Amino acid sequence: MSGRIPDSFIEELLSRTDIVEVIERRVDLKRAGAEFQARCPFHDEKTPSFTVSPKKQFYHCFGCGAHGSAIGFLMQFEGLEFVDAVEDLARSAGLQVPRTEGGSRPRTGKGLYEIMEAAAAYFRERLPENEEAVNYLKGRGLSGEICRDFGIGFAPKSWDGLLRALGTDEQQRKLLKDGGLLSEGKGKSYDKFRHRIMFPIHDRRGRVIAFGGRAMSDDGPKYLNSPETELFHKGRELYGLYLARQRVGRLNAIIVVEGYTDVVALAQAGLRNAVATLGTATTPEQAEILFRASDTVVFCFDGDEAGRKAAWRALQATLPKLREGLQARFLFLPEGEDPDSLVRSQGVDAFQALMREAVPLSDFLFDHLTAQVEMGSIDGRAKLVTLARPLLSTIPEGVFKEMMNEKLESLARHRVQRGQPAHITRPSRPRPQQSRTPLRLALAHLVQNPALVELVGEIGEIRECDLKGVDIFMNLVDFCAKRPNMTTAQLLELLHEHPAQSHLRKLAVWQLPGDPEHQALEFRDAVTGIRLQWVEALLSRMPKIVEQSKEERERFLHLQNQRQSLKQSLQGIEVES
Ligand code: UTP
Ligand code: MN
Repeated sequence: MSGRIPDSFIEELLSRTDIVEVIERRVDLKRAGAEFQARCPFHDEKTPSFTVSPKKQFYHCFGCGAHGSAIGFLMQFEGLEFVDAVEDLARSAGLQVPRTEGGSRPRTGKGLYEIMEAAAAYFRERLPENEEAVNYLKGRGLSGEICRDFGIGFAPKSWDGLLRALGTDEQQRKLLKDGGLLSEGKGKSYDKFRHRIMFPIHDRRGRVIAFGGRAMSDDGPKYLNSPETELFHKGRELYGLYLARQRVGRLNAIIVVEGYTDVVALAQAGLRNAVATLGTATTPEQAEILFRASDTVVFCFDGDEAGRKAAWRALQATLPKLREGLQARFLFLPEGEDPDSLVRSQGVDAFQALMREAVPLSDFLFDHLTAQVEMGSIDGRAKLVTLARPLLSTIPEGVFKEMMNEKLESLARHRVQRGQPAHITRPSRPRPQQSRTPLRLALAHLVQNPALVELVGEIGEIRECDLKGVDIFMNLVDFCAKRPNMTTAQLLELLHEHPAQSHLRKLAVWQLPGDPEHQALEFRDAVTGIRLQWVEALLSRMPKIVEQSKEERERFLHLQNQRQSLKQSLQGIEVES
């Protein structure tokens, strides 16, 4: 279980970090007034719509909607997990990441990473010494250069080569064991990997965490992989991802293949953006990681039954991750071919031509389901709906989901002509305009400038307000009052578990033109606007005048007065609502 990093640390880290510095190192920023601009690293564009605000410590792209704190930027740009992004920033800031008690992330690292690296070096050094292994790799068409890039090595036939080289004392032997490098038999330990070509598996920060070993002879399984260890959870890793990102930074597209050698062969052919799942079906965690590394994921499978099954599993893992602007495509290779054999026999152009024909996820989904039912009959089409609904329900809310649902409806209504592919084109990213109600405006200002909390004034009367969303505002007011100096980035990171987080993020990127004075006025008016709405709501809930008791009558008059004065304070000043 990974340990929780205390919020107070995140807060401190963000105040010691300058987002401009973090982004500047990776993106060519130009100053534009109080902010910085660049061409967005997260989508293709000609004119810069990516902005970084030093004041808010926040970045935002008006083109694709990407936004976040320095932590978010590292996650999105480098494809890091939250914890890894925090650790990276902490290192630059010279801070030590503390962990809260209980379930704290084990202080693995110590020793384990080192022994894995030492093992990788040991295997690498054995490779040139062994003619059989060198010839094997040559025979597969792999160059010395690509083998070096991927750190490919060789585990000799010996039972204890690694054990003797690295297991110098009890502690080292324990590390070898914990790293999954030894097997046990008859009370004795011996090398797990013997007589195999060794592919080191790196985590997203480039540390060796496991190995895959390909047999040189026919004994045992073709590939032997490291067991799950403290460092290695195969459902969360992708072979080749670190190297792919190393070389090209943000990936335009990422190709997911099945085998180690496919990744290496594609890289040698110039396609450095391939990764492999580790001999298992694509997991939701892997789908998440893939979409963090690129907007476009192309799954590449064998054309046989097993390949189709694997593709379907990948589709299921992908659906819940398909936020706006992301796409998955599926490429089925001719039977008997894998990417490695294909690029070697037909060249990289042939492979790329196939890539261009990869089917969109929507087509694959509906083609796969309609093939299972009799579309000519009502019963068949009803079955289609039954099969599709649970799948579509896992897609995040948004235009893509709506279109998939519409497609399903239209398929259910009409008889589909044979051979007509179920086709959906993905619309360009929608930018729904939210209307600027006083509540949203007040929230937006507060999120973008928490110091405004000082202008909120006397709002005791809306504490018990039950109008939709006002509780979020009150919540935010209390939160900001405690930390009026925080930046937008800190606020959003600290509220990362807030139920309204995604709403707040949207408001964080609203454009609020005008100088600080104008913004302060607009904020105050927005708050007044909320109060007015509440007074109006209370008035509308009062009994008719003729039915009012004495107290009710007094309250009614009080509310009317209040309404009057709130209206007056708004007069002459424009509040968009
Ligand atoms: P393949 O059988 O397609 O092998 O397995 P390959 O990658 O094309 O290997 P070569 O070209 O014969 O050397 C695809 C992947 O499935 C996992 C490995 O990750 C492999 O790369 N696998 C396969 C295993 O883990 N164990 C096995 O015994 C076989
Ligand atoms: Mn192969």
